[in-house]
Amino acid sequence: MSTNSELIELLRQIVGAAHVLTEGDLTAWVQDWRRRETGKALAVVRPGSTLEVAAVVKACVAARVSMVPQGGNTGMVVGSTPDASGTQVVLSLTRMNKVRTLDAGNLTITVDAGCVLQNLQEACEQAGFLFPLSLASEGSCTIGGNLGTNAGGTQVVRYGNTRELCLGLEVVNAQGEIWDGLTGLRKDNTGYDLRHLFIGSEGTLGVITGATMKLYPLPKSQLTAFAAVPSLESAVQLLGLAHEYLGSGLTGFELMGQFPLSLVAKHFPQQRVPFWQESPWCVVLENSDNESEEHARACFERLLEAAMEAGCVSDAVVAESMAQAHALWHIRESIPLAQAEEGLNIKHDISINVSRIPEFVEETNALLLARFPGARLVVYGHLGDGNLHYNVQAPENEDQALFLNEQEAPMNALVYEVVDRYRGSISAEHGVGSLKVDSLPKHKSPVALGMMRAIKQGLDPHNLMNPGRVLKV
Ligand code: FAD
Ligand code: MLT
Ligand code: ZN
Repeated sequence: MSTNSELIELLRQIVGAAHVLTEGDLTAWVQDWRRRETGKALAVVRPGSTLEVAAVVKACVAARVSMVPQGGNTGMVVGSTPDASGTQVVLSLTRMNKVRTLDAGNLTITVDAGCVLQNLQEACEQAGFLFPLSLASEGSCTIGGNLGTNAGGTQVVRYGNTRELCLGLEVVNAQGEIWDGLTGLRKDNTGYDLRHLFIGSEGTLGVITGATMKLYPLPKSQLTAFAAVPSLESAVQLLGLAHEYLGSGLTGFELMGQFPLSLVAKHFPQQRVPFWQESPWCVVLENSDNESEEHARACFERLLEAAMEAGCVSDAVVAESMAQAHALWHIRESIPLAQAEEGLNIKHDISINVSRIPEFVEETNALLLARFPGARLVVYGHLGDGNLHYNVQAPENEDQALFLNEQEAPMNALVYEVVDRYRGSISAEHGVGSLKVDSLPKHKSPVALGMMRAIKQGLDPHNLMNPGRVLKV
């Protein structure tokens, strides 16, 4: 077994001295996006190829040094940064950022894991295709991180989570072996589907180095509407009508409460936020049409007419241009940024059956405000998928760090108890990381946890891949 300095020397030989960072300002790699925790790394290593990743993993395993795979470091649950021990290697994939091949006939694209999502979207668009995964962090998150977390985002209602968009993976496992599972096949029933083990495993089973993803035709037309809805029941009713009138054209359905919209208006005054002062809830919805702009507009108008008649929409604007559509989407996407500007906050990324969302919110609001008077509820999210960001901002004029310190655990327990009663999930799309690792065993069946542990022990027997995240073993 080598000493730390021997290991670092070996890592320098593998990836080049310039790509092994041990000193200077490493904040970008050791602090999470929400600034919840700042860790300390033995080294940040930036391999440039799959072969280099394999050699780095082998060297770390031989030295029994644990690794934290990292993409864009935009994760929400403190899963991509090292702990405070100073003994972990951050394995940053961002130098591996190439598009490898695009197979137009097979509607697939194969990319390096460190490819930034927005660059991938743009490469697809330039080739005349749509890669539909869409998140507000797309300018810096990577496809490897999206796969590692099984990211959701704003197009799941039509295209599914990242898992549904992935056909094949290339992975360096916890032994440093390369598994070439880069297939574009849509059917392959030759045993366990290993791809699905690695997707959503948050770097705890191996390092994703490449992926083959599905492509879709670019829609002929995309229309966006921003609607004021009088209640959550109305929002759910509008969702039903949108499914009925738009069918597979419905590609986005996002809910925004009045308070989160007020935060956007407050922190980004250059953005014009419609309806927020008069409506308790707003919805942004998108219709993607493969026929024509006229067809898209006619379908949207029929939907909005029906919704107004049913009383589930009180007012609406339909974007007249792409610029206006982007501006309306931008309001929704600015909510997490506005929340961060407002200060520290507690996030609950929950999902339950869409039909029960109004009941859930009413019940949880009442319990939470009775116990934590003054807490400010920041409720918004992917209503089309039954996924709410039921977030909480500290009361105004209160010490935010103290509030978080003292109230986060009891508040989580309160919200998750209601989620359990509704048979929901305590992490719909952000994952577990280290923030929810202690909550998970209280909300997942012991049988499921036992099988997860067996998989972890089987694939990573020395517990060197992102230890302490997802599961404590
Ligand atoms: P990182 O943060 O670097 O890593 C995330 C996890 O994946 C870690 O556990 C890490 O170890 C693991 N990992 C990273 N790369 C690899 C790899 N190559 N192989 C194996 N494991 C790996 N998330 C959503 O789901 N939906 C949203 O709508 C959404 N919106 C967001 C908006 C904003 C403004 C921000 C800041 C974040 C948002 N996120 C959202 C969270 C985040 O962007 C996603 O989780 C994203 O998928 C993380 O990608 P990343 O490259 O930044 O991964
Ligand atoms: C979003 O949908 O905006 C996110 O997942 C980010 C968040 O929860 O803050
Ligand atoms: Zn989200």
